Amino acid sequence: MKISVIGCGYLGAVHAACMADLGHDVVGIDVDPAKIAQLASGVAPFFEPGLSALLASSLATGRLRFSTDVSDAAGAAVHFVAVGTPQLGDSYAADLRYVDAAISSLLPHLAPGDLVAGKSTVPVGTAERLAAIVEGAGARLAWNPEFLREGYAVKDTLSPDRLVYGVRQGDEASVAALDELYAATISRGTPRVVTDFATAELVKVAANAFLATKISFINAMAEVAEATGADVTQLADAIGYDARIGRRFLNAGLGFGGGCLPKDIRGFMARAEELGVDQALGFLREVDSINLRRRERMVDLAREVCGGDVAGKRIAVLGLAFKPDSDDVRDSPALDVAARLAELGAVVRATDPEAIETSRRLRPTLDYVATAEEAAEGADAVLVLTEWAQYRELDPVQLGSVVGTRAIVDGRNCLDPVAWRAAGWHYRALGRP
Ligand code: UDX
Repeated sequence: MKISVIGCGYLGAVHAACMADLGHDVVGIDVDPAKIAQLASGVAPFFEPGLSALLASSLATGRLRFSTDVSDAAGAAVHFVAVGTPQLGDSYAADLRYVDAAISSLLPHLAPGDLVAGKSTVPVGTAERLAAIVEGAGARLAWNPEFLREGYAVKDTLSPDRLVYGVRQGDEASVAALDELYAATISRGTPRVVTDFATAELVKVAANAFLATKISFINAMAEVAEATGADVTQLADAIGYDARIGRRFLNAGLGFGGGCLPKDIRGFMARAEELGVDQALGFLREVDSINLRRRERMVDLAREVCGGDVAGKRIAVLGLAFKPDSDDVRDSPALDVAARLAELGAVVRATDPEAIETSRRLRPTLDYVATAEEAAEGADAVLVLTEWAQYRELDPVQLGSVVGTRAIVDGRNCLDPVAWRAAGWHYRALGRP
């Protein structure tokens, strides 16, 4: 099928490359010429395992191209809208200006019968509003939310857990078009939920709200564990054996960040307030607060291992990305903690395998170094803030030989306390004695 993808960020670039890989004829469109030039030359504009290889192989088939000109979308049967919906600067609500701009720029190029398929995460009610505009041009609208995780974006797009189509009641043509697009996925038995616009929009924010709640639940248990001498990691293992609870997304630590979870729960709260059902989502305010308190607790632990004050202390920060296998530092708890410590007068030396450049753009004054060893040289304390494999596998004896003081705070419960203590380290972690 001929398709266009409007917006080539994390979501759109991966979607475009994956759809071409599935055999479709794809044009990816974005207003950012630098991004388009990179994508067109087969280079992913951000760190995402497998994406550059997929771009290169899809570009080589001739089925994938990129453009800054939205008129190149003309002729496609399905147009995906995959632009960002960030949090507004002055409220919790989502900023829909890029979605609105994408739809209005696409409008003159739509042919009757075309399908516009929204992928962006939007406040419930948006699809209904946009459908009226798209239908005015004789085209159709569906909402087809995306659940990809950064770091696994290619795998999640090619082999999703489920497909969700929000369509107008009785719009069989849109269902058939999406089924044809995703035929390879559907033939593997992937469940597909066909529903209305509002449900499809809500599925996405409800899923992210649930995941955020699960993380904040275990982080709340970490707070209680800290007050009682209990070990939150063992608690998570023990409750996780209950299949109704499950162990995934029960890793206590510095909490969630990134371009989705934080802004999606806030946007959801803002929309609920507009709808007069804010009481129903009051708990998300608590989820957000628990999450942000972990960062304060991390600063407290740094203070503690530095003898009560971090001012003038050399602190090594290992990890800046909001999670491993990503260079994304949007709302990253790790970068936030590094910046807070620097503001408190600590001499912070920070490193990350992939996220130094992205961090530098947001926090230009922090001191960045290339490796964990460089960061740790002469340090009074080492903080592990993102659980990259290379930090999980650090040798406590070897690292112990370069630091000034053997003090480590494990912000992600990713190190073996026994091994670190055996090597003479003062080991502290969130939610563990
Ligand atoms: C998330 C959703 O998982 C995905 O389905 C949606 O499409 C987009 O938002 P992503 O932002 O890529 O994906 O990250 P995810 O893997 O969900 O992690 C989010 C944050 O939670 C990270 O900061 C991570 O470190 C943190 N986290 C995750 C925990 O603190 N503990 C856990 O047990 C799991």
